[in-house]
This record gives sequence, structure tokens and C-alpha cells, in this order.
Amino acid sequence: MSSPIIIGNWKMNGLTQEAKHIVSTLLTYATNHHNFAKTVVCPPFTQLQLVKEMIESSPFGLGAQDCHFEDKGAHTGDISPAMLQDIGVKYVVLGHSERRKDHQESDQLVLKKTIAAQNKGLLPVVCIGETKQERETNQQEKIVEAQLKGSLPQNFNGLVAYEPIWAIGTGLTANNDQISEMIQFIRKKLVAQYGENGKKISILYGGSVKPGNVRDIYATPELGGVLVGGVSIVPDDFIKLIDIAQ
Ligand code: G3H
Repeated sequence: MSSPIIIGNWKMNGLTQEAKHIVSTLLTYATNHHNFAKTVVCPPFTQLQLVKEMIESSPFGLGAQDCHFEDKGAHTGDISPAMLQDIGVKYVVLGHSERRKDHQESDQLVLKKTIAAQNKGLLPVVCIGETKQERETNQQEKIVEAQLKGSLPQNFNGLVAYEPIWAIGTGLTANNDQISEMIQFIRKKLVAQYGENGKKISILYGGSVKPGNVRDIYATPELGGVLVGGVSIVPDDFIKLIDIAQ
């Protein structure tokens, strides 16, 4: 893999002191290292402004974990792409399996959010992946294909994250063959959907990525990077993922 992108999704974690600690550790790393892998942090909405100010003159990118599909209006509790753009967010994770499950997000909704995010110049990181039961019954390709078709717009300017649900936060990582086969499959589908442009879309892997397994994961052909949950809030381990990618 050429230079991977490493995206840290803090999920619903990060009170102010913790956020400061994580970002300070990253900033210290950046002062001692140069030209390291592109790294993006996705804190919860409440810490976006703080993190934005902390990373302002650093190489780190800023991402959010979701957005609405409208720019403004009567949607209590929601955050719009325009609001994210307004405070300097560049990436937005969409269709994460936890949102698909906790908030019943459908492919159709993810598609609307993806289009809205792109329209505001954000880079969507669209998540797809099968459940344990779907893997056990060998339906993973069918599921992933349907999610790709349903969640990605005609013109897609973003990244795809393959996250087998059974590997998220479980300590179970998909093995190299499983990751590799699925990345190839997704690539094939992206090329079928977008032609030449489909070759340029970054495909990430997510699911229990940690310092002990990331070397093998980075070695996956065609892999564009990793989407990291648990380890992204353990800054000493997260910087190991950056370091190993060098
Ligand atoms: O967004 C990140 C993924 O859900 C992976 O989470 O690294 O805790 O397994 P995890």
C-alpha cells in the first residue's frame, strides 16, 4: 500500500480533558516526526471546535461522525453538513454500522447524507459491512454489494470503509484473506459503478485494528487505510498505527 490514511473515530467518547490529552499526544508526535501518514481525528460533536483549534496548524485532519442531509431547519438534535463545513470539518463518517443499528439508518438515508455532505465540500467516509450471521451464511458479498449500490451516489467523491460488524470492538479482526478478498470485491464493484474513477476511490478497513495487527492489515493490496475505533482514544497506541504506516 502507498501511504495509508488513518482515521480515528472516537465514537461517543472524549470529555474535554480526555480530548485535550489525546490531541496533545498527537501534536507532540507531529513535532518529532515529519511526512507521516495522513491522519484524521473524528471526535464527538461536542469536541469538534476544541480539537479544530488544537490541530489548526498541524498536519492532522478533522472529521465528524455523522450529519443530517438538510443544511438547516427543524431537526432537533441534528447537525448539518453546512454546520460542519462552517467550523472547518473536512471528513464525515456516514452509515457507520452503529448508526445503521442504533438509529435504523437505511442505505437510502446514508445516500442522502452522502450527497448532502459532498455538496458542502465534505469528504464522506461511507461505511459498509456484514454481520456475523451474514458472514457465517456466506452472504457478505451480496450484503456489501447492496450497501454500495444503495449508499453511494452517481457521482461519489469520498472514501469507502469496509467494516465487518463482527470485527468492530470485538477484538476479532478479519484475517488477511478475508480483508483482501473483500477489498478486491469492493474495488471490482466500484469500477463497475464508476469506471476509471472507481479505481481511485480509497477503500479502508475497520474492525479491531491495533498496533499488533496493523502491519499485516497495511500490507493488504489495494487497501487505502484504516478506520479505527477503540485504539483512536488510546493515544500511545494510536500513534503506533501512524508510526508503523511510515
Ligand atoms: O469506526 C471504527 C470502527 O467501528 C472500528 O472500531 O476499532 O473499536 O473495532 P474498533
